[in-house]
Amino acid sequence: MSLQHHLIQASFDKAAKQYEQHAVLQKESLSRLLERLGDDLKTAPKQILDLGCGTGWAVPELLKLYPQSHVIAADFAQSMIDQVPQHPQVSARVSDAHAIDVHAQSCDLVFSNLMIQWCDESTVLQEIKRALKPGGHLHLTTMGEHTLHELKLAWQAIDDQPHVNEFVPAAKMADLTMQLGFADVIADSEFITMTYANVIDMMRDLKNIGAHNVDNNRPKGLTSPKVIKQLTKNFEEFRTADGLYPATYELVYLRARKTAEDKGLPLKIK
Ligand SMILES: C[S@@+](CC[C@H](N)C(=O)[O-])C[C@H]1O[C@@H](n2cnc3c(N)ncnc32)[C@H](O)[C@@H]1O
Repeated sequence: MSLQHHLIQASFDKAAKQYEQHAVLQKESLSRLLERLGDDLKTAPKQILDLGCGTGWAVPELLKLYPQSHVIAADFAQSMIDQVPQHPQVSARVSDAHAIDVHAQSCDLVFSNLMIQWCDESTVLQEIKRALKPGGHLHLTTMGEHTLHELKLAWQAIDDQPHVNEFVPAAKMADLTMQLGFADVIADSEFITMTYANVIDMMRDLKNIGAHNVDNNRPKGLTSPKVIKQLTKNFEEFRTADGLYPATYELVYLRARKTAEDKGLPLKIK
């Protein structure tokens, strides 16, 4: 993915104030991830890292699940971190997932909802592994390759520019995680469809949650009324029975464990 790091950071920084109001999909993904976590993790983690925590709305939920845990809430957008709920068991910090500001082998659980798709996945997974204690767990969600396929197809009929971010297939994420030496890797995905009254509302929503296209090769500038009209026409075949415009997300769940023997020696990955 050729995403521009500084643009993503600026975009989330700007989106922070209205983030919770618009992030319906993220909230849904978060509650599904928390549910799986509760089912999977049998012992309470002492230290949890919520990586790419956003405004920190997972934090109270994590403390509800694990009342004795300490939570490190990390995000690279200062205005997201400013909104993390304050609590004696929570430390919030501005930190980039590509070089996480935590001690090596200090976390029992790394939890991350819809962040890694904005990153270099391999670097971040290696950082997560460094942060985890031997035997520690990783639970995350990301976007799969079929995400926003309707919007992608509608744009393809207009030009061949990248209007929708490219996401890594679930199987490839699992392979990468295994190559990096994680054990018990499981990746699966499900589809969530959001519907909008029109294409403009859809694109505005993507922008409000900081999820619009930030590909290096993206076309710059505003979308003209003529193009919006064309896009709306191209969306016709996807409209729902009640006439709404769908945006389908492929939500990928990835879970893995750092082996008990893994003391964090660096791994060479091609
Ligand atoms: C879609 S939001 C999800 C926020 C939160 N996890 C939630 O469930 O609401 C993605 C978050 O990841 C953060 N993020 C993206 N790239 C990051 C990076 N390289 N390092 C740290 N945070 C990052 C963004 O600032 C944003 O807050």
